[in-house]
Amino acid sequence: MTAGPTTRQIQASPETVAEAARCLAAGGLVAFPTETVYGLGADATDGNAVARLYAAKERPAFNPLIAHVADLAQARTLGTFDGSAERLAEAFWPGPLTLVVPKAAGCPVCDLATAGLDSVAVRVPDHPVARDILRAFGKPVVAPSANRSGHVSPTTAAHVMADLRGRIDLIVDGGPAIVGLESTIVACLDAPVLLRPGGVPREAIEAALGAPLSVAPAPPEGDPDAPLAPGMLASHYAPRTPLRLDARDLEDGEAVLAFGPVPPEALARGGRTLNLSASGDLVEAAANLFAHLRTLDASGAARIAVMPIPRDGLGEAINDRLDRAAAPKP
Ligand code: TXA
Ligand code: MG
Repeated sequence: MTAGPTTRQIQASPETVAEAARCLAAGGLVAFPTETVYGLGADATDGNAVARLYAAKERPAFNPLIAHVADLAQARTLGTFDGSAERLAEAFWPGPLTLVVPKAAGCPVCDLATAGLDSVAVRVPDHPVARDILRAFGKPVVAPSANRSGHVSPTTAAHVMADLRGRIDLIVDGGPAIVGLESTIVACLDAPVLLRPGGVPREAIEAALGAPLSVAPAPPEGDPDAPLAPGMLASHYAPRTPLRLDARDLEDGEAVLAFGPVPPEALARGGRTLNLSASGDLVEAAANLFAHLRTLDASGAARIAVMPIPRDGLGEAINDRLDRAAAPKP
């Protein structure tokens, strides 16, 4: 194997934002904070840079990427916004919502980034460092979560370094990601469809649309590799340690991913326990999810027992991630 780039980690500042933009312009790979998770950025218009990004992540090449832009005006240069898309952009941008829209004529995003589709996923992140980098760079930036494919998403610069050292050029440290879950993805190609639950609860989207949102159909029988959002592949979020979901008791050798009050039984058994939210707050739980999974995965436990987590609000996305993490590996 040839030696990769030296990965430098720098604190966010006006100077380092300018440096990040220069690195992107030179075809570099730059990890930066967004409000959801850390993204691994590359120039969306540069096929070579995007190819390096897929390689660094070891990501299946059929998995299309989200183009990040500074504002709605720039988003309109990439895609065509129908009434629903306009309404959702107005209500939730900047913020943890990605819209999949038809590519605009002359859309500069390279085909590798959209995996050859005639639609494009666009998002305006709500994070000062992300926004400053996007403004300074001026072109769209593709940014999947800054982890190797199949690993849990990073919510701190240290997580990115642990996963991608020697594979990317720069990590801009802007503190922990606040939301802790990826963006909600809604396709506005026809009637709006929820492709991935995430940082904006479905209820909020339905309220903005004034109509219920349909959910992406399961992939066609015999063709599991062709879901609408290929990132929804069954084992996408996969720690190495097996997970046991909806655990109401504790077995020997298990660590515990708790939610709400921990049963005294779990404490007595002495398994490593981390609580997503002792008070049962789903927003706090979302912010802790990936970091806690990562810590328990590294704890040497034979299995991680996950206490039941309600499925309303952000609970839908949290359970979606846990279901994927628990799915058998292909
Ligand atoms: O919060 C987020 O969205 C983070 C931060 C860094 O912004 N990014 C992120 O990107 O989660 P990624 O690459 O991990 O997820 C992209 C998802 C995948 O499920 C992909 O299949 C879907 O977006 N996607 C992208 N373009 C699409 C398209 N044209 N049609 C359908 N799905 C698409
Ligand atoms: Mg990801």
